[in-house]
Amino acid sequence: MKTDVTITINGEPRILTVEPNDVLLDVLRTTAGVKSPKIGCERGDCGSCTVLLDGKSVRSCLVLGIEADGHDVTTVEGLDDAALAGLEHALVAMNAFQCGFCAPGIVIAAAELLGHEPHPTREQVQHAIAGNLCRCTGYEPIIDAVLAAAEERSVTA
Ligand code: FES
Ligand code: FES
Repeated sequence: MKTDVTITINGEPRILTVEPNDVLLDVLRTTAGVKSPKIGCERGDCGSCTVLLDGKSVRSCLVLGIEADGHDVTTVEGLDDAALAGLEHALVAMNAFQCGFCAPGIVIAAAELLGHEPHPTREQVQHAIAGNLCRCTGYEPIIDAVLAAAEERSVTA
C-alpha cells in the first residue's frame, strides 16, 4: 500500500508517495527527480548510488524510502560550497574522471571524509572511497585530487 513520506532532499522538504518496498535510490531518481545518484549494481557493491543520510554516506539502493521518512538526504546537487571547496576544481584539473558514472558517489564519499578529516592521509582517502567502484581511472587521479583539495583548503583557511 502506498504511503506518504516526508524527506528533506538537499534542504527542501518533499512529501513523496512511495511503495513500502521502494528503495531510496528509486525514490530519489523517479519520484523526486533527483538524478545524480546512479543505478549500478543495485545490491550495495558499487557505490554509484551513494548519498548522505543525515550526514552519513549510505548506499541508497540498500535503504528503503520509508526508512528515510523524516530524515535529511543530500546528493551531489545539495553539497554546499564548504563541502565542495577545492574538490570540484581539483577533480577537474586532474582529469580525475573519464565517463563520470562513479563521480556522484565518489564526490559524496570524498566530501564526507573532508568534512570530518581536513588533513587525510592517502590511506584514509583510499579507505573513504574503497566502496566506490570506478571502471575507468585506476583511482589514482581521484585520490590525488582529494588530497589536493585538502591541501588547498589548508592553504586558504
Ligand atoms: Fe547501490 Fe551499486 S547501485 S551500491
Ligand atoms: Fe568511469 Fe569512474 S570515471 S566509472
